[in-house]
Amino acid sequence: MTDPSITPRPRPAGALRRVGIAGLGHYVPERRLTNAELERAVDTSDEWIVQRTGIRERRIAAPGELASEMGARAALEALADAGIGAGAVDLLLCATVTGDYIFPATACEIAHRIGAPQAGGFDIGAACSGFVVGAQTAAQFIATGAYETVLVVGVEKLSAIVDYMDRGTCVIFGDGAGAAVFTTLERAGRGEYLGGSSGMRGGEADALSLPAGGTKSPATFDTVERREHFVRMQGRQIYRFAVTTFVDLVEKALAPYGDDELGLVVPHQVNLRIIESAAEQCGLPMDRVFVNIDRYGNTSAASVPLALYEARAAGRLVPGKLVCCVAFGAGLTWGHVLLRW
Ligand code: UT7
Repeated sequence: MTDPSITPRPRPAGALRRVGIAGLGHYVPERRLTNAELERAVDTSDEWIVQRTGIRERRIAAPGELASEMGARAALEALADAGIGAGAVDLLLCATVTGDYIFPATACEIAHRIGAPQAGGFDIGAACSGFVVGAQTAAQFIATGAYETVLVVGVEKLSAIVDYMDRGTCVIFGDGAGAAVFTTLERAGRGEYLGGSSGMRGGEADALSLPAGGTKSPATFDTVERREHFVRMQGRQIYRFAVTTFVDLVEKALAPYGDDELGLVVPHQVNLRIIESAAEQCGLPMDRVFVNIDRYGNTSAASVPLALYEARAAGRLVPGKLVCCVAFGAGLTWGHVLLRW
């Protein structure tokens, strides 16, 4: 029997193919964690959280609800939106920092759940930038003719690694998933991928990381006692980096285009103040920037596809106009994807 995932696919001799997005999907858990509930858990207030972050509530996975389950739900919705079955997926990429396991890849678990045994795939570990890096990866495989259909899922179950005794982080993060089906523009008929960028700078794990559980500091009783299996973040450091990077990415991505060509900037939902401050520095009115952080908090790799999904549902992706997705996060990593809807 021939395994389709290992069938060699020669690069066509001609030019690169144009790539588009055929479908979008999302999933958020039912449980809402409100600021009022956090007020009862840590020394914070609804007023502080809303003023400093713009977040009013975030979604939290049910006990036992896995990242792969949330990712699979978003993936199935995206496939249905694209009008194709799971059997057509050639490659499945999962962007996450909160996969079911350190290994195997959550991509494998999602492929199993949706019924895509023929697909190849892997996880993308670029934190909050994971979905845009995944989108770029998908676009390369399709443009070269290596694959026809690539499913990119961004999913996070951050509630599993957030310390609900640390007011500096527990107010920020939430759970959720988003997904997009990439294929040739000819087949997708919309959402043309015009290009993207990605960057990273190492040696800055202190700014944002999960300190223990990796091979640098494997789990011990001490690491558990020191609460090192929870997210640690230097909020201010990330704040400054996020504003500067947002501005740089948007300005460079949109430089070749006229002002009237921009439809919407869909940024990583990092913090409303960061988004507003960066938008002001770029001279972008807020009606050209999509925001849903008030309802979901920061969902890391799920944030951009979830925002893209909701932007389309709200009729904010205008056919023919540019959509610029920008993201930045732990690593440090950053990147953008430019689409013409
Ligand atoms: O996707 C990348 C992931 N990272 C992020 O999304 C984080 C980006 N950074 C941020 O969103 C902001 O830096 C935070 C929301 C985390 C913090 O806001 P800030 O305006 O940068 O506050 P700060 O860290 O400078 O702290 C100001 C004060 C401090 O008190 P003192 O030292 O001035 O007395 C904090 O202890 O606010 C205090 N504080 C809080 N107070 C009430 C920090 N967290 C809280 C809280 N409630 N939840």
